[in-house]
Amino acid sequence: MADLILVLDEGTTSTRAILFDSSGTAVATRAAELSQHYPEPGRVEHDAAEIWEQTLACARAVIEQIGGPERVAAIGITNQRETIIFWDKRTGEPLAPAIVWQDRRTAAICRKMRQNGEESTVQARTGLLLDPYFSGSKIAWAMEHWPQLGEAGEHLAIGTVESWLVWKLTGGLHITDATNASRTLLMALGSGNWDDGLVALFDAPRAALPEIVDCAGQFGTTSLFGGEIPICGLAGDQQSALIGQTCFERGDTKGTFGTGAFILTNSGNTPPKSRNRLLSTIAWQIGGQRTYAMEGSIFVAGSLIQWLRDSVGLIDAAAETEELANAVPDNGGVYVVPALAGIGAPWWEPDARGTISGLSFATGRAHIVRAALEAMAHQTQDLKSAFVSDKISWSRLRIDGGMVANNWMAQDLADIVNLPVERPRFAETTALGAAMLAGLGCGWFDTLEDAAAMRGPVDSFEPALGKAARQKRLDGWHLAVHSVIGEAH
Ligand code: G3P
Repeated sequence: MADLILVLDEGTTSTRAILFDSSGTAVATRAAELSQHYPEPGRVEHDAAEIWEQTLACARAVIEQIGGPERVAAIGITNQRETIIFWDKRTGEPLAPAIVWQDRRTAAICRKMRQNGEESTVQARTGLLLDPYFSGSKIAWAMEHWPQLGEAGEHLAIGTVESWLVWKLTGGLHITDATNASRTLLMALGSGNWDDGLVALFDAPRAALPEIVDCAGQFGTTSLFGGEIPICGLAGDQQSALIGQTCFERGDTKGTFGTGAFILTNSGNTPPKSRNRLLSTIAWQIGGQRTYAMEGSIFVAGSLIQWLRDSVGLIDAAAETEELANAVPDNGGVYVVPALAGIGAPWWEPDARGTISGLSFATGRAHIVRAALEAMAHQTQDLKSAFVSDKISWSRLRIDGGMVANNWMAQDLADIVNLPVERPRFAETTALGAAMLAGLGCGWFDTLEDAAAMRGPVDSFEPALGKAARQKRLDGWHLAVHSVIGEAH
C-alpha cells in the first residue's frame, strides 16, 4: 500500500530525503552535506551534478530502508531558492557552476540598473528589489561570462534547484513552481507568468526558461526507484516552511532560522506592496489561485555559527552556543552585525561587511557567542518594525530551522521581538510543507487545511524581558548596524 510521501529537501548546505506518513511522522531520513565553493570573495557556487547525485543517493537510501518503492505514493520537492542552474537539454548535464543565492558577484549589475531608475518598475512587477540575491542578475552575468551557455543555443535549459531535480527525476520535464519562479525577477507577480520585459532586461533566453506550474498537482513521474512515482508537490523552502507551520490565515507569520533566516507573513490573495523594502512573493499557487506573502530576508543566520566554528574556531560545535550564552549575564556591550554576505532586509546593502563591536579586556568568548545569537533577535525585530510600517502586525511568531533547537535563542527571540514564539516539536517544518503539498497533489487531502494536523504539538516561549533591558539591547544594536550601513555607502 502506498502510504508514504517522499520529500526531497535540498537546502543550501545539505540535502535530505524524508519519508512521511499521513500523520506527519517521519519514518525514515537520510541527509548529506553539500560542498560549498567560494572561488573568489563574494562568490558562492554549487556543483549541480553533486546536488543531483546526493539527492538521488539520499532518496535511494530511505526507499531501501522501507524495503522498496511500493509504499511511496508521491514525491514532494522543496529547495534553496534563487540559486540558478544551467544545463544542456540533450545531455542533462550542467554547463556551468550553479550560482548560489548568497553570491554577490552581480552587485555592480544591480547597482547600475538601480542608477538607471529600473528598481521601481522591477519592484512593481515582481515584488522584489534589484539585489544580487535574486536569480535575474545571476542569469545576466552568466550569459555574458560563460560562452558555453550561448553556444548551447536552443539546447540551453535554465532553472532553479527544484526545476533541475524534476528534469533529472523525469528525464526531461522542464517546469518550475510559482513560488520559485517568483524569486527570479523574471515573473510578473500578479499574473504568475514570465514577463517579456523583465526577461529582456536581464538578457535571459526565453526558450531556456521552464514552464511555471502550481505547487500541488501531478507533475510527471520518475522511474528511477522502480515503478512510476508521481511528483506531486513543489515549493521553495521558505514557502514550504510557511505551509509546514500551517500559516494558512492572513497575518500568520513564520521565521525559519537555517543558513539564513526568512520571515514570511501570509498576505492573502492580492500581492502586498511594501514601502519599507520588504519583498512580496508567492506563498503558494494551487489550482491556479495564488496566495501571497510578505517576506523579510536575513542572509546570515546559522551560517554565522558555522563561521564561528569553522573559520574563527571560537566553538567546536554549534550546540555549545546555548551553554555559552547562558554562562554570562548579558552581552557585556558586545554586538555582532552578521553582514558576512552583505546585509538583506530591510537594509539591502550588498557591499556591507560584518562587525563585532564593543570589545574590551572584559570580553570573553561567551560574550561574542551570545552576541552572535542575539543578532538573530535584533534582525528579526528590525523586520517586525518594517512589517509594522507596512501595516502588517504579527500576533505571534512560529519558528523553525536548525538554529531554534537552541532554547536560549528561542527565548531571546520572544524577549526582543516581544511576542509569543511557537516552536513545533518536530523541527523539519520545511520538509513537512512539501509533504503537505504532495499529499494534496496526490489526493490524500482536498485542501492544505486538511493537512494541518501533520504539524503536531508545539512549545511556546513568552516574552519575559523588562522594557528598559530590551530597549538597551535595541539601542546598542542600532548603533552597531548603522555604522555598518554607513560604511557601505
Ligand atoms: O532564499 C534562500 C533560501 O531559500 C535558503 O534557505 O534553508 O538554505 O537557509 P536555507
